[in-house]
Amino acid sequence: MTEAKIREMTAVDIPPVMEIERSSFVTPWTEGMFRSQLRFRDQAINLVLDEDGTVAGYAAAWIAYDEIHLLSIAVAPAARRRGLGGEILRAVMERGRARGAVRVILEVRDGNAGARAFYRTRGFVDIGTRRRYYSDTDEDAIIMEYLFDE
Ligand SMILES: CC(C)(COP(=O)(O)OP(=O)(O)OC[C@H]1O[C@@H](n2cnc3c(N)ncnc32)[C@H](O)[C@@H]1OP(=O)(O)O)[C@@H](O)C(=O)NCCC(=O)NCCS
Repeated sequence: MTEAKIREMTAVDIPPVMEIERSSFVTPWTEGMFRSQLRFRDQAINLVLDEDGTVAGYAAAWIAYDEIHLLSIAVAPAARRRGLGGEILRAVMERGRARGAVRVILEVRDGNAGARAFYRTRGFVDIGTRRRYYSDTDEDAIIMEYLFDE
């Protein structure tokens, strides 16, 4: 039986996180971006999902006032559609809520149908569009939001 554990991301997680990153995004974050994200512990939520000692997914988010801004989330391609992404997202949301957040905001590529479906299953709705937000592909960003219950 596999055991999945969610924990804080640390510098030793960056190499496996980078591997997932490179296999998940057209324009991956760099190691330096993860390193600087890890420096802002108070304003950030940086988590990895560790499955039997292997990093299978991660998420990085900012907390600004009462809002969680989900910056990135990914699961290793071979580990997808087993509920792990949902577990990581739930952990980010729980931690943010405990720190006073009332909503979650994210941007997702218009053409990323899988991720958009994933967020919809978790209760997110489309609230707007940022035209040509992604300069690498000239793609629009869809802004999605989740509101915590009062
Ligand atoms: C988005 C992502 C994190 C989801 O992780 P995951 O572990 O596969 O997600 P889950 O197993 O928790 O998915 C739960 C539900 O989301 C929906 N979903 C997830 N991926 C989907 C896909 N490719 N197509 C359609 N629906 C999908 C389904 O409803 C799924 O339930 P089901 O498997 O019973 O049908 C993962 O696909 C990923 O890493 N994608 C590449 C990176 C990325 O695009 N990140 C988001 C950037 S904004």
